[in-house]
Amino acid sequence: MSHDPYPTDEPAVVTCGLPYANGDLHIGHLRGYIGADAFTRALETLGQQTAYVSGSDMHGTPVAVNAESDGVDPEEFALRWHEQYRETFPRFNVEFDNYGHTHDETNTELTREIVRTLDEEGYVYEDEILVAYDPIADDYLPDRYVVGTCPYCGEKARGDECDEGCQRHLEPGEIEEPRSVRTDNPAEYRERTHKFFRVSEFAEYLTDFLDGLEGTSNARNQPRQWIEEGLQDWCLTRDMEWGIDYPGETDEDIVLYVWVDAPIEYIASTKQYAERVGSDEYDWERVWKEDGEIIHVIGRDIIQHHTIFWPAMLEAAGYNAPRAVAATGFITINGKGLSTSRNRAVWANEYLEEGFHPDLLRYYLTTTGGLQQDVDFSWDAFQEKVNGELVGTVGNFWYRSLLFAHRNFEGTPETDVSREVETRIEEAIVEVREAINDYSLRGVGQAATRLAQFGNEYIQRNEPWKLTDEDPDAAAQVIRDCVQLAKAVGVLLYPITPEKSQTLWEQIGEDGDVADVRIEAALDSPPRHFEEPGELFEKLDDDRVDELNDALRSRIDAAASDEPSPDETESDDTAADESETMAETDDLEPLADNRISFEDFQAVDIRVGRIEVAEGIDGADDLARLEVDIGFETRQVVAGIKRLHDLDELPGQRCVLLANMEPAELFGVESNGMVLAAGDDADLLTTHGDAQLGEKIR
Ligand code: MF3
Ligand code: ZN
Repeated sequence: MSHDPYPTDEPAVVTCGLPYANGDLHIGHLRGYIGADAFTRALETLGQQTAYVSGSDMHGTPVAVNAESDGVDPEEFALRWHEQYRETFPRFNVEFDNYGHTHDETNTELTREIVRTLDEEGYVYEDEILVAYDPIADDYLPDRYVVGTCPYCGEKARGDECDEGCQRHLEPGEIEEPRSVRTDNPAEYRERTHKFFRVSEFAEYLTDFLDGLEGTSNARNQPRQWIEEGLQDWCLTRDMEWGIDYPGETDEDIVLYVWVDAPIEYIASTKQYAERVGSDEYDWERVWKEDGEIIHVIGRDIIQHHTIFWPAMLEAAGYNAPRAVAATGFITINGKGLSTSRNRAVWANEYLEEGFHPDLLRYYLTTTGGLQQDVDFSWDAFQEKVNGELVGTVGNFWYRSLLFAHRNFEGTPETDVSREVETRIEEAIVEVREAINDYSLRGVGQAATRLAQFGNEYIQRNEPWKLTDEDPDAAAQVIRDCVQLAKAVGVLLYPITPEKSQTLWEQIGEDGDVADVRIEAALDSPPRHFEEPGELFEKLDDDRVDELNDALRSRIDAAASDEPSPDETESDDTAADESETMAETDDLEPLADNRISFEDFQAVDIRVGRIEVAEGIDGADDLARLEVDIGFETRQVVAGIKRLHDLDELPGQRCVLLANMEPAELFGVESNGMVLAAGDDADLLTTHGDAQLGEKIR
């Protein structure tokens, strides 16, 4: 199924993954919420009717475990965080049309109704399974109450998710070597009766669903692999008290699994919105039950829930299927994984307390990498982005254009925009439209920033300051063009920097809200008069960045010294032996000029492998035949390393293999991939951590 491009005639709903109401928000959360907010605003500028909804995820062990360690009742605990989130989001200009929570009545009712339907339609059955049990605490250990080893990849995992390894959802009973989080004792497995949803019956449906799914490619490709490996049914219930009761069941100790009622909040929250504004204004049933556009923005750790369990549930209960799942990469901090326990995070409140404008972070998080890419945050990179693009390019262009216009013409000169500039703005509008249809916020930001760049060059090239005396008409034309460009940049950048765009809008003398105009307003003439403008962005100076870096570093150090035995051997000292890394650059092949897109890079399938067999090829001086295990299969490849390596040493060594190389035949031996190596000596590339065989290099 292919979809009509945005805007369509149907109402849309954009959602972001519900935050667990269990702790402070950080920029890892904000990336998704800001992204979805910007995408909503972007769709609206195209004229698509769109609601942006979410809510707090109140149930499950993520909340129960933390509430327990605080000694607070889970409901009270979760509500407290919920209130804090509601206050925090608007401070980042994240404006939900509705922000509910999963424990409210709308969601509780709707969850019961949907589960009842699944049951009535025959999609639910009961089964006896083994669940982890803590003999000392004398209690069952659902999900995060148990830790152990992932049966799929061998990494350390939580009861229901392989959060540090392959990201798979784990069913109760699957985790190996289970230990209780409560008492740190080995857990036992005990038999219990639970309810199961027949997800395995949906393999064909989901395959078709994925074929039509828009968003990011990781949200299609990963689930395809899981379907190929065979879908398991999904346990719908858990042995705990906190949560929504299974409808019609009397067993007090069993509730619905948190991942059942959490996504249903997407619907419940939309419903609350429609109830508030009236169904003439926004028809939630049309969106969720008929033909509306459902767009989920999520983190890539919850792809399986959104592309397997959730669409299967929607289908079984007679709801509409999502149009898009856009799964963002993770945020790293100074090149290392964000870790709340290690305090290696930039917290939402901390950012605000530093007094930074929300639109700066919005711009940083949406334009630093593509949606799928992991984005590194460092105060240095933040400074570079702010000073370079927002201050240097956008802000500078806005200020100099408007100031010049105000001083010389008291506003917008009375003449039409030149054809050249109009065409350039039209081009930018097309770029933004395409970027929105590609779910590329970075594309939106870049189109706007490039337009400002064009504006700066346009001023530079036309030197209006020389023309004001010599040729006032020519000066008026240049300035007229610049004011139009400034306005256009403001309109195009609005989804990402809504508040700054609004200020520009007012500076240029416009009435009302930039939020209410369509993208084509970029071409409409600004008002004739406006006042002296002010600068919209402020440079971030080096001393400030040093302070911020110091503060972050000492916080991470403090957290590390609290921790008796860090299980991670990382060193902050990257200045290893510099002499070894300083090559004579003039011996090197020059760097390629032409940049490739991230998508192009994604097309190159590079995997972690292990050489199993290495032997020379008879008759060929340089060629060796290798067999490389890449997890899924063993590949035969021919490599030109016969004289450069001691072949006997190679078996057992890890290597890096280009897996989607066209097959070739060399000296009668088929080569099915390419082992990557650096330089004339074929220094073989390898990995240094514990990446598993078959893992993709990205
Ligand atoms: N709270 C979950 C998490 O943080 C996300 C829930 S998203 C929804 O991983 F789909 F369930 F709504
Ligand atoms: Zn795993």
